[in-house]
Amino acid sequence: MKGIWGLGLVASASLAAGAAVKTTVAATSVSDASSFSYESIQLTDSVLKDVSTQLENQTLANMFAFANSSTSSKQTKRSLFHSCKVMPGDFLWPIDLIWDIFDALLGGSLIKTVPLAAYCYPEWPEYDATKCETITADWLTSNLHMSDPTSIMLLLYEGRSCLPSPYNYTGTCTQGAYPTYAVNVSTVAQIQLAVNFARNLNLRLVVKNTGHDFNGKASGKGALTIWTHYLKEKEYYPSFKAANGYVGPAVKFGSGVQVWEAYEFAKSVGHSVVGGEAVTVGLGGGYTAGGGHSPLSSMYGLAADQVLSMQVVLADGRFITASSTENSDVFWMLRGGGGSTIGVVTSLVVKALPKLETTSVTFNFTVSDTPGPDAFWAAVKSYLDNFETFVDAGTYGYYYIGASSAEIGTTYAGDTDYYFRMESFLAPNMSLAETKALVAPWFETLDNLNVTYTPWWNTADNFHDTWEVSFPQEYVGTDVVKTASRLLPRSVFQSDDLLNQTWAAYKDGIDKGLFIAGFHISGTGIAVEPPKDTSVLPAWRDTLTHVIVGSEWNFTSSWDVVESSTLFVTEWMDVLREIAPDSGAYMSEADLLEPNLQEAFYGVNYPRLYELKQKYDPTGLFFALTAVGAEDWEVQTVDPLPYSWNNNGRLCPKSS
Ligand SMILES: Cc1cc2nc3c(=O)[nH]c(=O)nc-3n(C[C@H](O)[C@H](O)[C@H](O)COP(=O)(O)OP(=O)(O)OC[C@H]3O[C@@H](n4cnc5c(N)ncnc54)[C@H](O)[C@@H]3O)c2cc1C
Ligand SMILES: *[C@@H]1O[C@H](CO)[C@@H](O)[C@H](O)[C@H]1NC(C)=O
Ligand SMILES: *[C@@H]1O[C@H](CO)[C@@H](O)[C@H](O)[C@H]1NC(C)=O
Ligand SMILES: *[C@@H]1O[C@H](CO)[C@@H](O)[C@H](O)[C@H]1NC(C)=O
Ligand SMILES: *[C@@H]1O[C@H](CO)[C@@H](O)[C@H](O)[C@H]1NC(C)=O
Ligand SMILES: *[C@@H]1O[C@H](CO)[C@@H](O)[C@H](O)[C@H]1NC(C)=O
Ligand SMILES: *[C@@H]1O[C@H](CO)[C@@H](O)[C@H](O)[C@H]1NC(C)=O
Ligand SMILES: *[C@@H]1O[C@H](CO)[C@@H](O)[C@H](O)[C@H]1NC(C)=O
Ligand SMILES: *[C@@H]1O[C@H](CO)[C@@H](O)[C@H](O)[C@H]1NC(C)=O
Ligand SMILES: *[C@@H]1O[C@H](CO)[C@@H](O)[C@H](O)[C@H]1NC(C)=O
Repeated sequence: MKGIWGLGLVASASLAAGAAVKTTVAATSVSDASSFSYESIQLTDSVLKDVSTQLENQTLANMFAFANSSTSSKQTKRSLFHSCKVMPGDFLWPIDLIWDIFDALLGGSLIKTVPLAAYCYPEWPEYDATKCETITADWLTSNLHMSDPTSIMLLLYEGRSCLPSPYNYTGTCTQGAYPTYAVNVSTVAQIQLAVNFARNLNLRLVVKNTGHDFNGKASGKGALTIWTHYLKEKEYYPSFKAANGYVGPAVKFGSGVQVWEAYEFAKSVGHSVVGGEAVTVGLGGGYTAGGGHSPLSSMYGLAADQVLSMQVVLADGRFITASSTENSDVFWMLRGGGGSTIGVVTSLVVKALPKLETTSVTFNFTVSDTPGPDAFWAAVKSYLDNFETFVDAGTYGYYYIGASSAEIGTTYAGDTDYYFRMESFLAPNMSLAETKALVAPWFETLDNLNVTYTPWWNTADNFHDTWEVSFPQEYVGTDVVKTASRLLPRSVFQSDDLLNQTWAAYKDGIDKGLFIAGFHISGTGIAVEPPKDTSVLPAWRDTLTHVIVGSEWNFTSSWDVVESSTLFVTEWMDVLREIAPDSGAYMSEADLLEPNLQEAFYGVNYPRLYELKQKYDPTGLFFALTAVGAEDWEVQTVDPLPYSWNNNGRLCPKSS
């Protein structure tokens, strides 16, 4: 018996993976999207049969098997649904040999992960002072965290467990909610193997793309991560015939493609695509699944609206194509219903838009640049007064309001030299002259208020070049911010009273030490009709501004301060919830303590989303805080926080 557990087995298991059948998805016509090379390497029943033969042990082979048909998966649901996910140290946690077999079947892409900052802690075997220096220097940049298999951008949700000095809360480093293993996937077969393995062994499964999620949805204590970062293929179709009737240019992106790569590729083929403002957010992962807003949204709608077809590994391990005619319920759910719900998206085909002449303007002012606080707030109000005009012209603006004379864009509670910063106002399909004419009435108001500001204009014959200079790379990596958000509809800006209340709320929030990061934006787009068959939160369609409000504390703040600051922003948000009670909040930039969370993030779509979650993922393989079905689970965090406030604990069915 021992013999088959030795190296010989690992080698033959590896052979089995190498023998993964190459199936080419038949293209019905030249203009149809074909599978990427990494998608043609799939796990099939016959590959599994070979694996089983090689392993000479059915129990082992079953660990990698697909889920059975729905009848038997209901049985699996019954037996697993009432047990917690298996964690390292548990009796049922796979022994090293099984991880070795898994790795061999994967072709060696399994990573035993360590927290990034472990390099800074002498008690970790990874300790390396030079590496630590680099990591510390880069800690607040997104590149560092996106290039790591398990790090995330907002570390509160991981448990503040392993930070380099001076960002550390303690002088220790523990695994926290960083997953235990990650699969660095480069084929669909690897994703299928990981999905089957995690489901069959009741492991906690995390999907990580870039780790940008505002609520740390790509982390999880004791989990196995599917890391999609390297699924970077791209293809251009000059004339794509989509199932929904669209015929025109399209681009297919691997789900690991990031915003800057997508924009660059689109430019290289003479087009633009809808993507986020931020340079390194993923295009095809949580961003598009959750709706996805863009500097182009007031013109063309949300990212989810652009998708023409997608390819997905479902919770049962099977690889499918979803479009408006094929697996249309999956297609509906994965365009608006959020990341980590029923499957792992491996690629998507999106509309390619015209290259678009685009103009932007960036500027800022503080109270000291105005005659006084009244003029400052009047200047802010004059912006809100223009939201309708600006959105209806197809433009987008990303604005910050906060308190700090020291550094614009940082907020220090108690400082009264407030700032307003137009991070960038972006006008697609508009020349410099047209954009200047559009903002002239607003600027005239600012001038009349004696506000001193220096507009910085940029214009180019394509969207990419203007975007590139207007939106610098984002700063992340902190555990000192808690945000909440609200979508405010047009009706708010058509009522003097509600507009005044909104303005007064902004002022109150800043006076209380919060900061605002908002957008003037429409989720509909003036140039198009949004598709009807998406699960995008309906409130998006009527939105004129998406307002994020945040509280901040210090790196060394105690958990008590974290808790009170966190609760403060959640409660403060009631003022905007009351101004727009029938609206909602954008799930990807929201508050995990949002009251009536399902209604706020998913609206009327929730019952159907929940039903599809049960249909496609009956055992709850996919989980993320705030995701569809998350309310059936709780994270028993080991931090001094209530359950499910972060990912640093065992994942168990609710109230076990
Ligand atoms: C600095 C910054 C700027 C941002 N700018 C914008 C913006 O301009 N517009 C906007 O709309 N949003 C923006 N966001 C929010 C962004 O949309 C969310 O953070 C989104 O979740 C990021 O998706 P991701 O795949 O890159 O990140 P991740 O954190 O890796 O993933 C997010 C969620 O999606 C799941 N997921 C990831 N990939 C897949 C996949 N292939 N299949 C299934 N599930 C998957 C993950 O499990 C997780 O639950 C920004 C966030 C940050 C931190
Ligand atoms: C098959 O593998 C399982 C799991 O590792 C092990 O418990 C069992 O003893 C093996 N069976 C045989 C016949 O080797
Ligand atoms: C699927 O069903 C077969 C036969 O009923 C059984 O042998 C196998 O263990 C099942 N597999 C899973 C993953 O449940
Ligand atoms: C952070 O870690 C350093 C050592 O790496 C330690 O000297 C310092 O006390 C820690 N800070 C806090 C707040 O614990
Ligand atoms: C992950 O895989 C890619 C190739 O797909 C490789 O370039 C990269 O170095 C790997 N990263 C890690 C951490 O293994
Ligand atoms: C862009 O502007 C041109 C000319 O003003 C107009 O013809 C075209 O319809 C516009 N495109 C969009 C998408 O609005
Ligand atoms: C702006 O400055 C002008 C000239 O200094 C002055 O007359 C006017 O009252 C000021 N307006 C405001 C709103 O402060
Ligand atoms: C604010 O505007 C001034 C010009 O008025 C500019 O020099 C400065 O860089 C801007 N600051 C930020 C943070 O954008
Ligand atoms: C709104 O505020 C403006 C300016 O402060 C004021 O003139 C107006 O009367 C207010 N309107 C309402 C309905 O409160
Ligand atoms: C953060 O630190 C500053 C300066 O040390 C202090 O004034 C402030 O009160 C601290 N804030 C919090 C929330 O702890």
